[in-house]
Amino acid sequence: MDIYREWILEHYKNPQNFGEELPDATHSFEDGNPSCGDHLAVQLKIQNDRIEDIRFRGQGCAISIASASILSEHVKGKSLEEVRNLTKDEFLKLLGIPLSPIRLKCALLSFKVLKAALYGLDRARVEVGE
Ligand code: FES
Repeated sequence: MDIYREWILEHYKNPQNFGEELPDATHSFEDGNPSCGDHLAVQLKIQNDRIEDIRFRGQGCAISIASASILSEHVKGKSLEEVRNLTKDEFLKLLGIPLSPIRLKCALLSFKVLKAALYGLDRARVEVGE
């Protein structure tokens, strides 16, 4: 098993910033992957234009959970500007493994909910807009 796969598996088995509610969350968003029904919610505590804390909850496959874990570690403590500027390609590079189009959707679920939370969207507004 190569080192990147092992790393992904480790994040799946022991996801960081994952699980219980985040007290004092200032931003949140949740969404699912319609093709499989997996669902992730993110909560952020934003203070002084910085992500002080982040928590993911929900269920998903190994790639989606591991990606959420890796993303949470990457953005925690960063400024809003840095995280807003983080591109999809940069994030995928961070994961370091080749992904099929289906797996790409898994990997990007956490990225999508994080970006939506950052821009202060709420689910009701998004649903109305669809
Ligand atoms: Fe559902 Fe990967 S199979 S997010």
